[in-house]
Amino acid sequence: MSMRICLWGKAFGIDRIIDSCRRAGVEILAIFDNDPGKWGTWCEGLETVSPARLTEFSPDYVLVVSHSFDAITEQAVGLGYERERMLAYHRHTQEVMAHLGASPRLYFNRYALGNGGELDTVTSGLEIRGKTEGDIASPVPLEAQVDIARRLMDAYILAQECAGNVCQLYQVGKNWGGVLKSTRGDLYDITRRGDAHALAEALGNFCRNGLSESIMGGERAYRSFLDSRHDTWMQHNLEVWMALLDGKASVEETSMPPIGNPYGYDVEGSIINWNSFPNHARAYRCATLLEGVDRPVVAEIGGGFGGFAYNLLKRSPGVTYVDFDLPENLIVASYYLSMAFPDRRILLYDSPELVLDEELLRNYDAVMMPNFMLPKLADRAADLLINTISFSEMEYATIEEYFRQVDRVSGRYFYHENLSCHPPYKGYPTAVFPRLRNFKEIMVSFSPWQGLDAYTKGHSYMERLYMRRGVECAGCAGVAD
Ligand SMILES: C[S@@+](CC[C@H](N)C(=O)[O-])C[C@H]1O[C@@H](n2cnc3c(N)ncnc32)[C@H](O)[C@@H]1O
Repeated sequence: MSMRICLWGKAFGIDRIIDSCRRAGVEILAIFDNDPGKWGTWCEGLETVSPARLTEFSPDYVLVVSHSFDAITEQAVGLGYERERMLAYHRHTQEVMAHLGASPRLYFNRYALGNGGELDTVTSGLEIRGKTEGDIASPVPLEAQVDIARRLMDAYILAQECAGNVCQLYQVGKNWGGVLKSTRGDLYDITRRGDAHALAEALGNFCRNGLSESIMGGERAYRSFLDSRHDTWMQHNLEVWMALLDGKASVEETSMPPIGNPYGYDVEGSIINWNSFPNHARAYRCATLLEGVDRPVVAEIGGGFGGFAYNLLKRSPGVTYVDFDLPENLIVASYYLSMAFPDRRILLYDSPELVLDEELLRNYDAVMMPNFMLPKLADRAADLLINTISFSEMEYATIEEYFRQVDRVSGRYFYHENLSCHPPYKGYPTAVFPRLRNFKEIMVSFSPWQGLDAYTKGHSYMERLYMRRGVECAGCAGVAD
């Protein structure tokens, strides 16, 4: 016999809970609510009624869809119902749904206007099949990975040698100096020994080890993912992502590729972790801004593990991507792109004399440079320059230098996402960032992503888009004055 339950609390999103329960064969008898104004209203064929009728329905369980679980439980007990049969949806979503035999699902809406001008809303659901926590095998054979690792190691060692001689503005700052010292010991040891095999193995597991500390969370984030029970960011960020893209992409596109032993939630076969939606949306929006530009060049300062670059190059094969980062993280992004795009032309650092001009950029799909090579990028060589979750963490004099460089190297757009406030560590809010002589700000807002948004106290981020003065916007008729 199927389980028979009642819901308590006619809250926003109740239609999604009804859908999940019904898919698991759970029969829902009624919805209770303490607000008499809701009695007699209907949702998905279910009437909302007074809780006074609880014993009349005599459900197996009452699923409370309200944050006032304790008060509602006392009320139900006062009506003669057993305390043990009260289930708290918000507190224990996954356990409660598993108890009812239902899989947790993600929901999103797509909107269209009908012929008569009426709004047509289609709600879809995606099953969260569980966590992808077992090892993900790379499709690239180990020997080929060792070859890649050998080339990456040469570039890395040269970059580290040169980094020691660059001016203070291009030296690693206090925040990142501390992170690298405490987490990249294995990388320093492997490269000192020149062990390409060990490097290939470490990179092949970078999502779960110290190589991705502070760019994807490293081992700590992986362990806390294993322990996590219900990640609310997924539903929130999925809806944000859908809205930003007007529903024009599928969730499979945001999946983490089998590179570096990724982990995440298994959403109908796609591996989704926190980075999936923001990186995909950033790439999508940059590609949209540059529509109409022939072979655009996108430069990034501080590309992290390469998540934005991966999505950009996948979506826009005609783009040349240029990354400027600290050698310890540049090696990870270079590995990521080399594994993802074995047939694309990727330039690694091989000489401090390189001149990053139009001719060189035309010959590559990706150019992976240590940060101190930024002055070698030709004037206005980039169509768009991007920096996310990064400038705020640098020394102020370095931010000033990078802004001078942005003013010089970006020919059309500059987009960045950085802190709106002062965090508990040394970090600069965008309010004190230098002014740009050649750019006009055309959009500013808070980041929409959970964990970065305006509600994230002490750690919220702003998104800022600038356009070069006097340059025509690629996809529209506007000119920034
Ligand atoms: C928190 S990570 C963000 C990575 C990526 N942009 C993202 O949003 O996921 C900060 C990035 O800034 C880079 N970074 C820190 N100091 C830098 C510097 N002085 N010059 C260039 N990049 C730097 C780090 O190496 C890292 O890639």
